[in-house]
Amino acid sequence: MSDLKTYLEKTAEQVDIALERNFGDVFGDLYKASAHLLLAGGKRLRPAVLLLAANAVKPGRADDLITAAIAVEMTHTFTLIHDDIMDGDVTRRGVPTVHTKWDEPTAILAGDVLYAKSFEYITHALAEDRARVKAVTLLARTCTEICEGQHQDMAFEQKGAEVEEADYIEMAGKKTGALYAAAAAIGGTLAGGNAMQVDALYQYGMNAGIAFQIQDDLIDLLAPPETSGKDRASDLREGKQTLIAIIAREKDLDLSKYRHTLTTTEIDAAIAELEGAGVVDEVRRAAEERVATAKRALSVLPESMERTYLEEIADYFLTRSF
Ligand code: IPE
Ligand code: IPE
Ligand code: MG
Ligand code: MG
Ligand code: MG
Repeated sequence: MSDLKTYLEKTAEQVDIALERNFGDVFGDLYKASAHLLLAGGKRLRPAVLLLAANAVKPGRADDLITAAIAVEMTHTFTLIHDDIMDGDVTRRGVPTVHTKWDEPTAILAGDVLYAKSFEYITHALAEDRARVKAVTLLARTCTEICEGQHQDMAFEQKGAEVEEADYIEMAGKKTGALYAAAAAIGGTLAGGNAMQVDALYQYGMNAGIAFQIQDDLIDLLAPPETSGKDRASDLREGKQTLIAIIAREKDLDLSKYRHTLTTTEIDAAIAELEGAGVVDEVRRAAEERVATAKRALSVLPESMERTYLEEIADYFLTRSF
């Protein structure tokens, strides 16, 4: 694990440097708003998955793919800017969200700029034309899927008790799993991997990404904002149909009473109620099963340090606290 930690820190630093070089010196409100969250840190896990997938398929190929790695980080950051408008959140990556620092129209456009630029950047990856076309196509499809997932996430707030576990898994797969799946598959594709390897990487990213979202929902509830860098209990406040809410309902707990701005005392009461009924444990087990599925998918790849890191990243998705 400590080796993985060092690898992730090194990759994050590489990504930060590349982003700083491209967005550190921009002029005007729109570009400053685009760069605001991009340069505010972040775990940079999707770039790490892309680069590891590339090296797991062909050793050394990751060195040519840093622009593709920052492209997926730009896509991710674009979705965060728009997500914060949708979820009404004021803090992200420990800084004010774009729509609160500027305004909603600027945040929509700042996100759009990153969305468009991510496609520009991914074409700069040093790879064969055919592989680059595949990568661009996959990124485009993924963006559509994220929109579908985000739309479901919002619609589920109204559907409430009708939403079931399978609906949640579909939604989380689209809003979060798809980009991890794409990061892994794009890394594999650009490195020259075959169809079976790319498909396995996609399945890995999809399952690990669903587990990542389940853990994100737990962090929303359990982690203080100083740790998460985000609004606390935003999901309860907004009435999100997370796996936590769905399993709580199965156990006859009603979270709709928490659907307003909450005090720390109210959040603690919600946690006590959920932990007492075994909801948190059951949600954790669902995430663990996804991670096991994700890791199994990697067995078609040759053994390597990078494959081991991909397995360890999936485990880390469940133990992380931010
Ligand atoms: C947050 O993603 C959004 C979700 C998909 C849950 P991360 O937890 O990867 O956020 P950063 O990039 O580290 O800020
Ligand atoms: C959003 O999920 C995932 C995206 C596609 C941006 P969340 O709404 O739970 O993400 P956070 O908690 O705000 O980061
Ligand atoms: Mg959100
Ligand atoms: Mg959201
Ligand atoms: Mg969340």
